Amino acid sequence: MKNEIPVINSDRLILRKFEENDSHYMFINWATDIECAKYTNMTVADNENNCKFIIDLWKKYYDKGLVMWAICLKASNEPIGMIGFELFENPEISFTIGKKYNNCGYATEALSSVLQFGIKNLGVKFFWGYHFTENIGSGRVMQKAGMVHTRSDVKLNKFFNKDMPIEIYEYRTE
Ligand SMILES: CC(C)(COP(=O)(O)OP(=O)(O)OC[C@H]1O[C@@H](n2cnc3c(N)ncnc32)[C@H](O)[C@@H]1OP(=O)(O)O)[C@@H](O)C(=O)NCCC(=O)NCCS
Repeated sequence: MKNEIPVINSDRLILRKFEENDSHYMFINWATDIECAKYTNMTVADNENNCKFIIDLWKKYYDKGLVMWAICLKASNEPIGMIGFELFENPEISFTIGKKYNNCGYATEALSSVLQFGIKNLGVKFFWGYHFTENIGSGRVMQKAGMVHTRSDVKLNKFFNKDMPIEIYEYRTE
């Protein structure tokens, strides 16, 4: 892959690398949202510096194969969420959209674009992802983006500090 995160354009969104001053939008749009922390591995941010720190970490881990895009509204360039995967043999995809922007189809648009981009431009043949079973909206996004439910399992949910049921989805080119 190039030495910089590639830009992906879709109808209403631009997916691009995180810039340092995106920490403000990350903070106000999703990093303080308990609903996001509940179903991802993120902890709730206390201040914008927490977000700066995470953005810096993502930058460092890019060399090790972590690709994390800021999901931005085309009209304003404002980051409303994030989507990414680790470019290993079987990349696991994860995504978040701030509550204020939910149910507008943005997660589905971003996920569909990233799956297509990975297949066409990075030669990825297989993606997988999971959601906690009670997080129905996330499963709906995976279905709408063409991912297929393959099995159920349980996983430690760090927010609740207990094992909880999950649903696993896959996306294959062949
Ligand atoms: C889950 C999440 C990514 C959805 O983002 P979004 O931009 O609102 O998703 P979309 O608008 O593309 O699609 C949401 C779909 O879920 C459906 N949905 C949402 N909540 C639902 C619920 N409680 N029950 C049933 N369907 C639900 C919506 O109706 C929509 O489906 P539709 O188009 O068929 O009506 C967002 O809410 C989020 O980031 N949540 C917190 C973090 C998270 O869960 N990340 C995913 C970890 S796997």
